[in-house]
Amino acid sequence: MTLQTTCAESQETRILPLLSPHTRVKHDLSKSSDTIPQYYAQMSGNELDRRISAARATLAERLVILGHHYQRDEIIKYADLRGDSFKLSQLAAARPQADYIVFCGVHFMAESADILSAAYQKVILPNPSAGCSMADMANIAEVEECWQILSDIFGEDAGIIPVTYMNSAANLKAFCGRNGGIVCTSSNAPAVIAWAFRHGKRVLFFPDEHLGRNTALTYGIAEEHMAVWNPKDPLATENAEEEIERAKIILWKGYCSTHMRFSVQQIEKARAEYPGINVLVHPECRHEVVATADLYGSTEFIIQQVEKAPAGTQWAIGTEINLVHRLATEHPEQLIFCLDPIVCPCSTMYRIHPAYLAWVLEALVHGEVINQVSVDEETAHWARVALERMLAL
Ligand code: 13P
Ligand code: SF4
Repeated sequence: MTLQTTCAESQETRILPLLSPHTRVKHDLSKSSDTIPQYYAQMSGNELDRRISAARATLAERLVILGHHYQRDEIIKYADLRGDSFKLSQLAAARPQADYIVFCGVHFMAESADILSAAYQKVILPNPSAGCSMADMANIAEVEECWQILSDIFGEDAGIIPVTYMNSAANLKAFCGRNGGIVCTSSNAPAVIAWAFRHGKRVLFFPDEHLGRNTALTYGIAEEHMAVWNPKDPLATENAEEEIERAKIILWKGYCSTHMRFSVQQIEKARAEYPGINVLVHPECRHEVVATADLYGSTEFIIQQVEKAPAGTQWAIGTEINLVHRLATEHPEQLIFCLDPIVCPCSTMYRIHPAYLAWVLEALVHGEVINQVSVDEETAHWARVALERMLAL
């Protein structure tokens, strides 16, 4: 018998009480690690399946598993609720009986769920290294530096409204809350930009340059009234300050590497091979891609378009591959494929593997909370202010 098997067995047979549903105790046991015990890493798919199903059955109502649309099928099959980042946080908040919210997504989503859920609910991200590379392109020190420089340029009556995309750290949402700003998602960005211009003269939009540009163009702001802020080298170019002074919107130079893979050439090729095909892309794509597509919108929007289309409709879709594959499987009556022929999943979403899920769920059965995501009270308060401004729209 290997050491790993022994460990696994001792985990299974350890007699630790499952906490009563009525004793909503705060655990001091929470620990965080992306180093999974070897014996979980070596388990077969069938063994993981058996263990995850058993843990779900034991935890029953006390557990809710959330699965973002970009998660792989081996994870989505365990999700009690599926959705985009914002919808999932709202759904979690509507499940007060669940003490444990296991978020199969990325870090900023788990933070938002923690902010929007009740104090006794614990949000767990099975693998803490599942971040979002775009969200990581803006940090609070850089945003504060930018804010200071913009305030110096525009003076007292600057009227800058900070707008952060949902794909950002909680402390950036809190920055927006404190400074009269707001959060947006890919589905409500146009309404949020309109709100921002009702409350101020100009917008600082972070961290996604492309969602910012696509939304601003739809709102009617011309390219010459946009400036790009490179946090690594602000004001590097000779006329940077002039461009900022002219700008109605200042776009943070951040991007999603998954959505940057889509190109106009791919759209032209799809149209040449399938005349009449519908091209549907996410607004994190470059503007030329969005402008060439037939339709663009959030993950939920993409799903809705496919779901309501009649049999025989053809779709070339520009978003994450796990979602596109799932749509193709669930809608065999339509022709659905990804615009990018090279399969490229979001690498951080992919870090949620069934072995991590089995690990955190079995720990919960034993009363141990692993990889909890918890936002401090002060940050959560101000982030909630920015989120509630968005919800009130
Ligand atoms: P949604 O807001 O549609 O869930 O998108 C999140 C995301 O990460 C898109 O790349
Ligand atoms: Fe972040 Fe892009 Fe992955 Fe979405 S697809 S989680 S924006 S890296």
